[in-house]
Amino acid sequence: MKIRAAVTNEIDSPYVIEELTLNEIRDDEILVKMVASGICHSDEVARKGGYPVYPVVLGHEGSGIVEKVGAAVRGFEPGDHVVLSYHYCGHCSNCLSGVPASCEDWMTVNLRGTREDGSLYFQREDGSPIYNFVSQSSFSTHTIVTERNLTKVDKSVDLRLVGPLGCGFLTGSGTVLNGLKPGPGSTIAIFGTGAVGLAAMMAAKISGCSQIIGVDIHDSRLDTAKQLGATHTINSKDSDVLAEIKKLTNNKGVNFSIDTTGVPAVARTSIDILAVGGVAAPIASSRGGVEINFNADLNMLNRSIKGVLMGNSIPQLSIPQLIQFFEAGQFSFDQLVKFYKFDEINEASADSASGKTIKPVLIIDEDYAPAK
Ligand SMILES: NC(=O)c1ccc[n+]([C@@H]2O[C@H](COP(=O)([O-])OP(=O)(O)OC[C@H]3O[C@@H](n4cnc5c(N)ncnc54)[C@H](O)[C@@H]3O)[C@@H](O)[C@H]2O)c1
Ligand SMILES: [Zn+2]
Ligand SMILES: [Zn+2]
Repeated sequence: MKIRAAVTNEIDSPYVIEELTLNEIRDDEILVKMVASGICHSDEVARKGGYPVYPVVLGHEGSGIVEKVGAAVRGFEPGDHVVLSYHYCGHCSNCLSGVPASCEDWMTVNLRGTREDGSLYFQREDGSPIYNFVSQSSFSTHTIVTERNLTKVDKSVDLRLVGPLGCGFLTGSGTVLNGLKPGPGSTIAIFGTGAVGLAAMMAAKISGCSQIIGVDIHDSRLDTAKQLGATHTINSKDSDVLAEIKKLTNNKGVNFSIDTTGVPAVARTSIDILAVGGVAAPIASSRGGVEINFNADLNMLNRSIKGVLMGNSIPQLSIPQLIQFFEAGQFSFDQLVKFYKFDEINEASADSASGKTIKPVLIIDEDYAPAK
C-alpha cells in the first residue's frame, strides 16, 4: 500500500516526507494506522548518525488504531486503540523470566532495520530499501508491527497524548519504579529535567521519596519540575551542584541519582553525589563515558551504577499503569506535550533540541478526535 513517511536519507539530513510503499503484513504481523507520534531524544541521536542503516523512517513513540491483523494474530483486531513500544523475542531466558527489556536479542530485533529474514517493511517505488527503527518507524501514516510491540488502551484514552508512554515517559518512570525502586523516605537527584527526567521525577513522588532534587540549565524546565514533584531544584549553570546537594542532605549525598543529560561531567557528578550505599542510573544516550575508580568510587562506599534500558519496563503492564497514574492526577505528562502537524516535523525536532518544547508530538492523523 502507499503511505506517507518522514524519511531520514543520510546522517544529519532533515526529515523529508515522502510517499513510500509499505509491504504486505505477514501472518504474525499487524498494520497500524498512526494517529500520533512523540519525538524522543533518541530519534535525534539516530538522525545525527547513531544508526547503522539509512535511509530510515525513525520514530518510536507511536499511537494509533489497528487496521488489519495477520491470520495468526490472536490478541488484537481491527479498531483496537494501541500504543507502540519496543520489540522483544519472547522466547529467550530473560523474556521468559519476565524481563523483556533484557531480551538477549533486543539490539537485533529493534535496531536491525528489517525483518529477521532481511526483508523490508518500506521501500521506494524503484524498489530501493528504506529501513525500520525500533521495530516501529512511527513517523509514518501506517506501519507494520507485531503483537509484542503493542499495548491496547481504552477507547476513552486520548491517542494523541499517549505515544510517548512507549519510550520517553516509560523510560523515566520505569527507571525509578522498576530500576532503582527507591523506598519511601529515600532521597534522589535527577540530572536533566527533560521528558525522561520529569517522568522520573513524577515516579519518585509516587514512590514516596522525601527529597527529589531536579538539576538543569534551564529555569523554565526547573519551574516545571517544581510543579511536578521536585522538592528542590538547582540551576547548575550558576551553582556548585555537589555543594548544594550536600547542603540539602546533611552532607550525606543522595540514595539514588539519574543522569538524563548524557554530558560526561554531569554523569560524573551524579555518581560523586551518591551517599554511602547509593545507586546511580546514567541512562542517557552518550557517546562519552566517565572514568571510574572501582575501589574509591564504588566498593569502599558500597555504591553501584546501574544500566537501565527502557525503564526495565514491560510495556503491556507499565503503560496501563501510567495511564492510571495520569487519570489519578499523579503523572501529568500531558503538561509536557506540545502538538505539531506531521509536516512540521523538522521544526518540532529543532524545538526539542533547543529546549523550547519538552515533548513534541506529531499529529499524523488530523481527522482523529478523542472520545468525548
Ligand atoms: N536508557 C534508555 O532506555 C533511554 C530511553 C529513552 C531515552 N534515553 C535517553 O535519555 C536522555 C534524555 O532524553 P530526553 O528526551 O529527556 O531529553 P531532553 O533533551 O528532553 O532532556 C535532557 C535535559 O538535560 C538538560 N541538560 C543538558 N545539559 C545539561 C547540563 N550540563 N546540566 C544539567 N542539565 C543539562 C537539558 O536542558 C534537558 O532538559 C537522552 O539521551 C535519550 O537518548 C534513554
Ligand atoms: Zn528475548
Ligand atoms: Zn526513545
